[in-house]
Amino acid sequence: MENESNFTMTAKTHFGLENVLAEELKNLGANNIKALNRAVSFTGNTELMYKANLHCRTALRILKPIYKFTARNENVLYDGIQSIDWNKLMSFKNTLAVDSAVNSRFFNHSQYVALKTKDAIVDQFRDKFSIRPSVELDDPTIRINVHISEDECTVSLDSSGSSLHKRGYRLEKNEAPLNEALAAGLVLLSSWDKKSNFVDPMCGSGTILIEAALFAYNIAPGSIRKSFGFQKWRDFQPELWDKLCQEATDQITPFEHKLVGSDISSESIGYAKNNARLAKLEGKVTLLRKSFEEQTPPEGGGVLIMNPPYGERLKEEDIDGFYKMIGDRFKAAYAGYDAWLISSNKDALKKLGLHPYKKITLHNGPLECKFQKFPMYAGF
Ligand SMILES: C[S@@+](CC[C@H](N)C(=O)[O-])C[C@H]1O[C@@H](n2cnc3c(N)ncnc32)[C@H](O)[C@@H]1O
Repeated sequence: MENESNFTMTAKTHFGLENVLAEELKNLGANNIKALNRAVSFTGNTELMYKANLHCRTALRILKPIYKFTARNENVLYDGIQSIDWNKLMSFKNTLAVDSAVNSRFFNHSQYVALKTKDAIVDQFRDKFSIRPSVELDDPTIRINVHISEDECTVSLDSSGSSLHKRGYRLEKNEAPLNEALAAGLVLLSSWDKKSNFVDPMCGSGTILIEAALFAYNIAPGSIRKSFGFQKWRDFQPELWDKLCQEATDQITPFEHKLVGSDISSESIGYAKNNARLAKLEGKVTLLRKSFEEQTPPEGGGVLIMNPPYGERLKEEDIDGFYKMIGDRFKAAYAGYDAWLISSNKDALKKLGLHPYKKITLHNGPLECKFQKFPMYAGF
């Protein structure tokens, strides 16, 4: 591996956001950036690793590879894991969790790879100290990631801990909320320049609006979070971390335009208000209980991003009519807005009656979606 001052890292993300994340990492000063499948590899030092956790809006995890080896069966995997001196990284008093991702002819089950890795680590401690560290899935001291591509095994430390989409502002679960990192990805993909209004007229629990607001005010998404994996590492540098957090606070900028979310459901608006309060955005966003049909956007134009129901629970003619209503309303009331809409329902999207200017494929959980742009001009 490279020397300690500069090392390779892998940032994981959602399908379709690799280039957006690569751009975020570039802006943070990362080098040797390569967009991969649902991930971006890059090089940098410990400071950059901390910064990536604090600032990246579209990253899910920042992994620090510590060892690479070749294995085609579980015994070689076990030996490879045991050739790492785990006592340098953790103590038998600590807890651990192992995540794994496998894309290989030689290993079929990622769960089994995780189990074998865990065994190799705890056996090493047991052999040396006659005591084994315990497994703790939710909040371990050390989270380890094993990635196997064919016979290439990469063992990494997960510097993030829990997934970075868990910003810390969403405690209550609304129906079908968007993942926060995906919502931030929509905002960045829309190329909104922050020089105009931002609206989400079907905002649900407010995820897209909150991510847009964090971006608008240049608030680091990690600044709301309570903890990161690297804070429990033996080499954690608290002064460096405090300095980066202070710099992030100093970089918050004013925002002059309107950020408006609305939804037909008063329960959803209640969740959205609570989430906005937890994200420290009170007074910075407007949240209204209003149907899309009766809502009018702020004057001056801007960007609209909407994640309407996909229609799994509606009859086909109802969902077709609903999407037609959305298209008609865009034409009637949204001149001056770039309207973006994400949906997995490709047939319903055709019922908008509008030609997409841009189409991007993304995954919302298991659903393949289209994220489409409809620039709305006066006179439609
Ligand atoms: C898929 S959810 C949006 C989830 C949201 N992006 C989040 O992260 O929580 C769709 C939302 O559209 C709202 N909705 C459905 N019909 C509506 C209408 N006619 N006007 C306004 N909102 C509507 C629902 O109440 C629901 O909150």
